[in-house]
Amino acid sequence: MYNFDFYNPTRIIFGRDRLDTLDKLVPAAARVLITFGGGSAKKSGLIEKVRASLGNRSIVEFGGIEPNPRYETLMKAAEVVRNEGIDFILAVGGGSVIDGTKFICLAAHFKGDARDLLKFGFARITSKTVENVVPFGTVLTLPATGSEMNSGGVISYDHGKYPVMSELTYPKFSLLDPVVTFTLPKIQVANGIVDTFIHTTEQYITFPVDARVQDRMAEGILQTLIEIGKITIDEPENYDARANLVWSATMALNGIIGVGVPQDWATHMIGHEITAMFGIDHGQTLAIVYPSIMEIRRTQKREKLLQYADRVWHITTGSDDEKIDLAIKKTREFFESLGISTRLSAYGITADKIPALAEQLKAHGMTKLSEHQDITPEISLKILQNAF
Ligand code: NZQ
Ligand code: ZN
Repeated sequence: MYNFDFYNPTRIIFGRDRLDTLDKLVPAAARVLITFGGGSAKKSGLIEKVRASLGNRSIVEFGGIEPNPRYETLMKAAEVVRNEGIDFILAVGGGSVIDGTKFICLAAHFKGDARDLLKFGFARITSKTVENVVPFGTVLTLPATGSEMNSGGVISYDHGKYPVMSELTYPKFSLLDPVVTFTLPKIQVANGIVDTFIHTTEQYITFPVDARVQDRMAEGILQTLIEIGKITIDEPENYDARANLVWSATMALNGIIGVGVPQDWATHMIGHEITAMFGIDHGQTLAIVYPSIMEIRRTQKREKLLQYADRVWHITTGSDDEKIDLAIKKTREFFESLGISTRLSAYGITADKIPALAEQLKAHGMTKLSEHQDITPEISLKILQNAF
């Protein structure tokens, strides 16, 4: 196992009927900005309930944060923070609203050109770069990204998606009520299952470093998703199934399973280009790219693929190659069983568009991907062509 530092200050409030906790968690004298998305949280009545829980605090709303939140929208919110003297933000939404809120918190009082905050990539933004960061909490409405308990965000600008990472942007708290997610359309639940699955494999199917706790936690998340995935789509109000999805999503990307182990993230980086170019949902891009990565990277990932075949899918017979083939087939079938196609062609993308995706990876500096940093744009192109 590698050396590691682990830090995660986010308080989690989990379960039914916990909204009243907001009154204790949000500073009593705060002037609060509630951020939300395109309207689902208004329509369901959640925003009204959140307002009621905040009692007499002075509240401003900023709605309209779109999926794959855009820089321009977030800068408008940052202006509201400044003009209205906001000192606490409450994000009510999925990954896009929470990621967007993290950026608003960084950008609101940033002295320079806020576009510079998009240039850090995986380097962490520190208090030397941004002195005054607005604190925030979240009410999660979509289990998928883990953004409710991590410090990262992904911001869309121009034709790219930019990771923004900072220890300054951990939520102070996140309220996770599975009931709030009952209103999700089936496709968003499926997206969330795939996103959680791939967050886990990005930190697990790499190469072994004898990290037994992390491996078994990752296997626990993957097995949970396989057990409850279809159930929670078919029975959206089955509380237990949904509660297990919500906690799996948070655990997959709050840092715990990733400590002391190699990490891949190639599927995400390639997937981000597909979203940026064609607007396909994040979860769907991952379902397209990952089975192809497993096929093309089977040599580099051999030992962990065999462990995955054995411990997650209980494949115990056949040659090693047959075991890996079957594990890949089962992974693809699992995504398809959730209603998510795993081929680029199924999304109306034609083969002639694929080279432009590899070019975009190059333009965004994504030229050394994976746990071995050896996936060049040429290999990414092969992965994408194999995913067609
Ligand atoms: O905008 P509204 O009207 O609220 O509708 C949203 C949106 O259309 C809807 N929705 C959310 N909660 C709902 C609901 N509809 C009904 N009932 C509810 N309870 O769902 C749609 C998608 O929402 P979005 O927030 O975009 O989805 P998700 O949570 O999957 O977030 C995706 C974004 O997160 C980034 C992705 O790149 C993408 O931009 N990621 C963030 C990560 C992180 N911060 O660590 C890691 C991830 O890998 C990912 O890259
Ligand atoms: Zn993801």
